[in-house]
Amino acid sequence: MSDNNLKTIETAALEALAACTDSASVEKVRVSVLGKKGELTLVMRTMGQLPKEERPAFGQMVNDTRRVIENALEERLNALRAAEQAARLEAERIDVTEPAAEIAQGSLHPLTIVQEMLEDIFISLGFSVADGPEVELDHYNFELMNIPKEHPARDMQDSFYFSPNLLLRTHTSPVQARYMTTHEPPIRIICPGRVYRCDEVDATHSPVFHQMEGLVIDKGIRMSDLKGTLDEFAKRLYGPETKTRFRPSFFPFTEPSAEVDLTCAMCGGKGCRVCKGTGWIEVLGCGMVHPNVLRACGIDPEVYSGFAFGLGLDRITTIKYGISDLRLMYENDTRFLSQF
Ligand code: DAH
Repeated sequence: MSDNNLKTIETAALEALAACTDSASVEKVRVSVLGKKGELTLVMRTMGQLPKEERPAFGQMVNDTRRVIENALEERLNALRAAEQAARLEAERIDVTEPAAEIAQGSLHPLTIVQEMLEDIFISLGFSVADGPEVELDHYNFELMNIPKEHPARDMQDSFYFSPNLLLRTHTSPVQARYMTTHEPPIRIICPGRVYRCDEVDATHSPVFHQMEGLVIDKGIRMSDLKGTLDEFAKRLYGPETKTRFRPSFFPFTEPSAEVDLTCAMCGGKGCRVCKGTGWIEVLGCGMVHPNVLRACGIDPEVYSGFAFGLGLDRITTIKYGISDLRLMYENDTRFLSQF
């Protein structure tokens, strides 16, 4: 074994290292030169065949070569690792200045928009908003509203019953009763919410719909207060030109009772498709609270009087937005909902 041989191994190893492009290939070079069966290791093993006196010098030469290769290996490895890390950092770099992906934003349901609009109107007239359960006792939904069992007026409202005494409320009127039995007059509330009736679904009917109840109780409340309040409401809802029309009607919980029409917001009263040519749109029922209702709710009709009204939110909403089919409001198709 000569100097020359070692030099050849060294030169070849250094060249191989220079050609390495990643740390894995550096490791291959290490194994092939310095590993258990590597070239230099095999050379070292031939030492035993040499005469004893030559062995130290030979060992020294092999070790020098090994050190040169080891140093080169480490240097190459460090360089490659640094390059690999730099490349990884570059690839994983986060550009914090890049605009974020837009998050799709929902919008208010048209019914919610109208409900909030009406709440704003009545709050500005001094009313507050009251709430009640949708699963209601027969007692509040009918009995306290002066509709006893077997009363024919129960047929006006086909109900969903859970049991003989429990049902889905058929109107927002039970909230009146709940409020009167727990509060002293003066009372001035509105009660918006969902109501349920056993109706077939079509373009103008839904078993779920929305009402808003109004109730005012105080000393000396008269029919003219009711008319003035609803007139003001109509003007704020559809504009100052809007007129109201009171038609005599019947409700068990009011006496006298009336149905109220507003001049059609679409045609201003001239007559169009929306108002079926009449110029008027029916939006609510109302009246002076029946003494039986006051009494049943613990309020003395000799001292107090009041008015009440119940309006249909769905109808006001479909008219406001020109929605031709009620079903659109309950299907939750985002192509419809995103227009509001
Ligand atoms: N509760 C009635 C209904 O659902 C609406 C109504 C009419 C409510 C007259 C009232 C009222 O408070 O005074 O048909």
